[in-house]
Amino acid sequence: MLSKKIKIATIGQGYVGLPLSLLLCKNNYNIHAYDIDENLIKKLGNGLYGNLNENDLDVIELYKSTKNNKNITFSSNLDEADIYIVCVPTPIKENHKPDIDFVFSAIYEILNFLKDDDLIIIESTISINSIKKIQKIIKAKKKKINYSLAYCPERVLPGNALNEIIRNDRIIGGINKKSALYAKDLYKIFVKGQIYLTTIEIAEFTKLVENSFRDVNIAFANEVSILCEKYNVSYRKVIDLANKHPRVNILNPSIGVGGHCIPIDPWFLIENYKKKISLIRNARLVNKDKTKIVTKKIISKYNSSNVCKKNILILGLSYKANIADLRESPAIEIVRDLQRHLPANFYINDPHLTNFKIQNTKFCSLSKGLKLSKFVVILVGHDAYLDIHRKITKSHVIIDESGIFPE
Ligand SMILES: NC(=O)c1ccc[n+]([C@@H]2O[C@H](COP(=O)([O-])OP(=O)(O)OC[C@H]3O[C@@H](n4cnc5c(N)ncnc54)[C@H](O)[C@@H]3O)[C@@H](O)[C@H]2O)c1
Repeated sequence: MLSKKIKIATIGQGYVGLPLSLLLCKNNYNIHAYDIDENLIKKLGNGLYGNLNENDLDVIELYKSTKNNKNITFSSNLDEADIYIVCVPTPIKENHKPDIDFVFSAIYEILNFLKDDDLIIIESTISINSIKKIQKIIKAKKKKINYSLAYCPERVLPGNALNEIIRNDRIIGGINKKSALYAKDLYKIFVKGQIYLTTIEIAEFTKLVENSFRDVNIAFANEVSILCEKYNVSYRKVIDLANKHPRVNILNPSIGVGGHCIPIDPWFLIENYKKKISLIRNARLVNKDKTKIVTKKIISKYNSSNVCKKNILILGLSYKANIADLRESPAIEIVRDLQRHLPANFYINDPHLTNFKIQNTKFCSLSKGLKLSKFVVILVGHDAYLDIHRKITKSHVIIDESGIFPE
C-alpha cells in the first residue's frame, strides 16, 4: 500500500486528469492538481467544475464532494511532489504528425523538482519511442537522479469516465521493474480491473493498436454501407443478418468518426510508415471520406426534393449518440459544408448541447424545428429521436444518416 504521506502532482486537469486527481484525493492522498490554464484553475478553485458537462455527472458529483477537501490543491504552478502524473493533450498537426510537445514541456517543468526515488507516469497518448525521448531529456538535465518512469495509457470512454477509470483493466509499461511496480502500487489505490505489467514499447504499441482497431472496424462498416447504397440494398438488414454468423460482428456505420482518440491515434501508430502501411491509413481515409459522401448525398436529396426547402432541420451534432461531446464531430463538418452549398436557413436540435453556436444557424426544440422545416436530416441517433417517426407528418422529407429511423 502506497504511503499516505506521498505527495502526488497531476499535470493537466482535463477529461483524463481531473477525475484522476479527484479519485486519488477521495482515497486520502495529497494531490497537487496543476494546469497551465489559469481560468480553468480559477474555476476549479471556486467550486465550478471546469469543462465538464452532462456526460460527466459522476465526475461532477465527485468534484462537489471533494472540493473542500484539504488534500487537494488546484494550482497554475507545478510544485514538488513524489509522483508526477502527466495528463496533457497530444493532438496531431495539420500533416497528421503527432504533437507530443505538451508532454515534453510538462517533463521540463517536472525537471525543476525531480529528486531521487520520484516516479513520473505518462497517461497521455504518445507515439512509439516517446518514452525513450523523455529518458534522453531527463538524462541530459539530471544525469545522476535515480528516478522511476512508467507509461500507463488511459482508455476511458467519454460519458462514462469515472466508471471506466475504476473498472477497466490497465496496462503499465515501466522503464524497469521497479518503475512498473511503483506505478502498479499507485493504480491499485482505485483500479478494480486487472493491472498488467509490461515493457514501455509494448505499452506504447498496445494503446495505439486499440484505437486503430476501432477505426479499422468502423471503416469496414462504413464501406459496407457505401457499397450497399450503391446497389440500393439496405445495409442495416445486411449487417444485421451477417452478424447472425457466430464469428461476425460488424459495427454500425456512421457519418464519420469523431471524438478525441479514434480519429487521431491511428496517425500516431503509422507516423513513420504512412506510405508503407495501407490498411490503417486507408481506414482513416474511408472514415474521413464517409463524411463527405454523406454531405453529397444530402445535397443531392435536397436538390431533387419537392418539399418546401426554405428551412433545413439538422438533428444531432455531437460526435456520437447520447453524449454532449463535440470534439472532432463529423456532424459539425457536414453542417458547415451544407451551409456552403444550400440556400436554406439551418435549424439545429441536439438535446445534449447547450451554449453551442454555429454561425448562421439557430438552435431550436425538436417540435419547433419540425414545425419550421420540412426537410429533416438526422445525423446522430440520440435516444431522444427514437420516436421521431411518430412526430413527423407526410409533408416531411427525412434523410436518416443515423440508422435510427425505422426502415
Ligand atoms: N479524453 C479522453 O477520452 C481520452 C481517453 C484516453 C486517452 N486520452 C489522452 O489523454 C491525454 C489528455 O487528454 P484530455 O482529454 O484529458 O485532454 P484535455 O484537453 O481535456 O486536458 C488537458 C489539460 O492539460 C492542460 N495542459 C496542457 N499543457 C500543460 C502543461 N504543460 N502543464 C499543465 N497542464 C497542461 C490543458 O490546459 C488542459 O486543461 C491526451 O493524450 C489524450 O489523447 C484522452
